[in-house]
Amino acid sequence: MTQYLPEVEAIAREAGALLLGYFAGHVTIEYKGDVDLVTEADRAAEKMIVERLRSRWPEHGIVGEEGARSAPGADYRWYVDPLDGTTNFAHGYPVFCVSIGLVRNATVEKDEQLEVGVLYDPTRDEMFSAQRGQGATLNGKPIHVSKTKTLAESILGTGFPSHKRHKNPNIHFYHQITLRSHGLRRAGSAALDLANVACGRYDGFWEFNLNPWDTAAGALLVQEAGGLVTRFDGAPFRLDSREVLATNGLIHQELITNFEEIFAGRGLEPLPSAVEYAKSRG
Ligand code: IPD
Ligand code: CA
Ligand code: CA
Repeated sequence: MTQYLPEVEAIAREAGALLLGYFAGHVTIEYKGDVDLVTEADRAAEKMIVERLRSRWPEHGIVGEEGARSAPGADYRWYVDPLDGTTNFAHGYPVFCVSIGLVRNATVEKDEQLEVGVLYDPTRDEMFSAQRGQGATLNGKPIHVSKTKTLAESILGTGFPSHKRHKNPNIHFYHQITLRSHGLRRAGSAALDLANVACGRYDGFWEFNLNPWDTAAGALLVQEAGGLVTRFDGAPFRLDSREVLATNGLIHQELITNFEEIFAGRGLEPLPSAVEYAKSRG
């Protein structure tokens, strides 16, 4: 079996160093849409990663968030997010990573297989890696999902897209799961959120409207660390699913049941008026 990890880790580490260089200095920000940021760092890191992947595996396809495309008919396809957490990066908030995933059977509908996932956080010098069937590691040491058994005891992550926020129902889920869990974090990097489930820092993570480059590496990390990744109703996750629910497995069904309730609008309490709130504070 081809061992991809050492070479992909080296590429992710090199891209991470490049991002850190930009992070330390001044980056030029552009807008891809009304609120969707891209920086010169995203583009430079993608260019570097794609050059390395192409020269090492010229027969493989590539899909990069910033536009790289090659060999669309190839059986193996790399999904590259050169900088996940661009909004954080552009604001100087040090939560971002490089995410590189490899998929086999890329052109066979419903039969794709996550093969390799490498995710590097340069600010913490943390390298998360997984290859199918070989487990997941953080800086070379095996990692496992948490053992938390109930939602009430869980800490979870979620995220919001930068564009079409008004059309995203996640604020209702954010509200309800905050009330029903031990706490919710919204860190701004979906790929790192998935890595945090894999290593047990989070018990679960969900998000609407993600792209394959956000999830390819992280989903494999969670699976190889013993967790579960599905759609919100428990159906199998695929890279074009958009929605992702990733947990330690133990709280998965409880979250699915909660999501059904939230979708149905049950359990929502009306907001108190400012006067009622002031009274309730005593
Ligand atoms: C974004 C981040 C964020 C998530 C957004 C993604 P980007 O990716 O992962 O956490 O909420 O949906 O688009 O644009 O920083 O690569
Ligand atoms: Ca992303
Ligand atoms: Ca990105």
